[in-house]
Amino acid sequence: MSRHVLGIRYLDTTEIDTLLALAAEFKLRVIEGREVPQLPKKVVGMLFFENSTRTRVSFEMAANYLGLKTANFAAGASSMSKGETLKDTILTLRYERLDALVIRHRMSGAPNLAARFFGGPVLNAGDGMHEHPTQALGDALTILERKGQIEGLRVSIIGDVEHSRVARSNAWLLSNLGAEVRFVGPRTLIPTEPGQIPGIVHHDLATGISGADVIICLRLQKERMSEGMLSSVGEYASMYQINREALAWANDDCLVMHPGPINRGIEVDDWTADGDQSAITAQIENGVFVRMASLYWGFGGGLEDIIEPHVPVTARRAA
Ligand code: CP
Repeated sequence: MSRHVLGIRYLDTTEIDTLLALAAEFKLRVIEGREVPQLPKKVVGMLFFENSTRTRVSFEMAANYLGLKTANFAAGASSMSKGETLKDTILTLRYERLDALVIRHRMSGAPNLAARFFGGPVLNAGDGMHEHPTQALGDALTILERKGQIEGLRVSIIGDVEHSRVARSNAWLLSNLGAEVRFVGPRTLIPTEPGQIPGIVHHDLATGISGADVIICLRLQKERMSEGMLSSVGEYASMYQINREALAWANDDCLVMHPGPINRGIEVDDWTADGDQSAITAQIENGVFVRMASLYWGFGGGLEDIIEPHVPVTARRAA
């Protein structure tokens, strides 16, 4: 059996729970130096058509922990530069007998197209303005570790929601698990039809983060912006930057997150990014474990394969 991870919107609550529980179990085992399941005969293609640091390296690390081999694909050095389509590239990799694909692409829906033609698990590593499901899973694991639960939390997502696949995946995931999701930003950077993503819109930062339990800052994606979306970066920072003054509007123990890469001094100041309430490095660390979970689950593995039936993860930890 193989499964795809194309977007959070395509997963149900049970599947999200399973992925998070697998990630928590893998994290525990890696930290304690215990065995994790091995898939040594499988080869995963790493197709990064857009730049990446965190996602690419964490998928490589996840594959290493699971004993998977990886085949790297440099888009610029591939036959796509000679005009080959994405469909023909995917078919080529299929008949070269790769077992799974991790794909990042600037085009929304590219992983969905790959899944139609590949024949094995396809994992979305971020596609255009559509989804970044493993980022959202890592963020959820981080919130669960710090807050104990997601249900009932107020989560404010700040900034360039319009261009953000992270905002979309987080909104789908966190609302599915019972959080109140708010989008906060200037009118030009909030989707014109925000009703398509679950969340309440605010344009005033103080109101938008009032009583927040979690703040997720977003990078200003200038490479995806058209002319006139932002009057100036300085003005944006003066209105929407998360800093000591802004944090006073949120709950005292509000968690500050950012998927990276961070534009320090714009979306968030140094004091906040490096402060006690920041969970940014935890998000990076958890990225490895949710990607292990996604690869393992994609190849058909489940919790029941690594934990005795009916024994909760917490009980096993105590054992
Ligand atoms: N958060 C994220 O996707 O970072 P990278 O672009 O470095 O992978």
